[in-house]
Amino acid sequence: MSAPAFPPLPPGFRFGAATAAYQIEGAHEEDGRGPSIWDTFSHTPGRTLGGATGDTACDHYHRYPEDVALLRELGVDGYRFSIAWSRLLPQGTGPVNAKGLDFYDRLIDELLAAGIAPAATLYHWDLPQALEDRGGWRVRETAEAFAAYTAVAADRYGDRVERWITLNEPFCSAFVGYAEGRHAPGAREGRGALAAAHHLLVGHGLAVRELRTAGAREVGITLNLDRLHPASGRPEDLAAVRRAEVLHNEVWTEPLFAGRYPEHEEETWAGLADGDWRCPGDLRLIGAPLDFVGINFYRPVTVEAAPHGEPDPEKRTATDIGVTETNPYGTRLTTMGWPVVPSAFTELLRDIAGRYPRLPPLWITENGSAEADSVTPDGRIHDAERIDYLAGHLAAVADAVTAGVDVRGYYVWSLLDNFEWARGYDQRFGLVRVDYDTLTRTPKDSYHWYRGLITAHRARTEEPAR
Ligand code: FCB
Repeated sequence: MSAPAFPPLPPGFRFGAATAAYQIEGAHEEDGRGPSIWDTFSHTPGRTLGGATGDTACDHYHRYPEDVALLRELGVDGYRFSIAWSRLLPQGTGPVNAKGLDFYDRLIDELLAAGIAPAATLYHWDLPQALEDRGGWRVRETAEAFAAYTAVAADRYGDRVERWITLNEPFCSAFVGYAEGRHAPGAREGRGALAAAHHLLVGHGLAVRELRTAGAREVGITLNLDRLHPASGRPEDLAAVRRAEVLHNEVWTEPLFAGRYPEHEEETWAGLADGDWRCPGDLRLIGAPLDFVGINFYRPVTVEAAPHGEPDPEKRTATDIGVTETNPYGTRLTTMGWPVVPSAFTELLRDIAGRYPRLPPLWITENGSAEADSVTPDGRIHDAERIDYLAGHLAAVADAVTAGVDVRGYYVWSLLDNFEWARGYDQRFGLVRVDYDTLTRTPKDSYHWYRGLITAHRARTEEPAR
């Protein structure tokens, strides 16, 4: 298969693929796994498209040897997966479930036998339901429970996991989950969501401490920072973009990389952000040095000023900041409705690197596109749009590297078509198609293209082929 122009990524640049536990594993009641907020949410009528759940998903829990074989054949250096907290600790705290621990042992060993470096995300949105019942991320106890769970995982897998990611996209956990309510646990809150954001960061800081104590190799966090543009030069749109910067980016980047809370949080949340959930010493804990930062990028965002949905600041959700999203790009949209603008990826990477001198090296921990794939009579999936998207975004990463940004590797989202949260099984992001009736896996053209790209990179940089 002919590959588009190859981006000049540097020698030693690593390629991988990513997934997350609830999106692929299935086996939701097997071997002692406890329920998570995503089980509860997806089983609540009206929450996910068509009532889709992760009960079976891709059945990766049973089919992981086949999936690791697909990764080996793909030729990736690394695989990013997530550990389901409620498989290890079914109630979130307390007794450890030996069978849950064993599953990730088997997965990790299978990866290592295939020459693939494991990267483990500790929290990809699947909070044990028992902890949500006690307040979820609104309360500090959840951050402490996260640290205890991290210690269990680090103790067991720390000798074999190359890269640890504490949280995946805390923006979504805090704001999509506790303010917009589009994700589990489906809450629509102001203070609760801001407390959740803070406790996620505290949980991250405590988890980093545990990972260091256990001698973990590389420790980082994954953020979905947004490249934000104002819809116009009008002062109200410029003010709207400032508020959106706080909500989308600075809530995370300022405490993590600058040791402070966002300067403009007051004008964004009118006093709601600075609550009694902030304790002395938290900023020091949250800002502990990291080995890398994971960046997930899909699309740029343009915003303009809009009336608040709720006039009373005390009653607003944390995402009601007087901002609305517009789409002036005029480019192709993926089936998620997301504009395809690779240059925004370069801008984002350059911007974050320029803004924070203490920023550790970056890894792209997710990037990919959902497309309207179809199986042609020859049994193939000719997903030219996905190849085009990936080639464009890898070239954008290469441009950032050329401009001096330290990016070490790239994990494509995703290895498999999977449960796309509230969008159910409608959105296909995989390099490998999953037939949800038979659970058969079929590599798409993009899989073969990515494999060719990795092989070409190794040949060009004279790394041994695998
Ligand atoms: C990210 C999530 C990931 C996947 C992609 C499409 O926000 O981290 O699980 O759903 O979007």
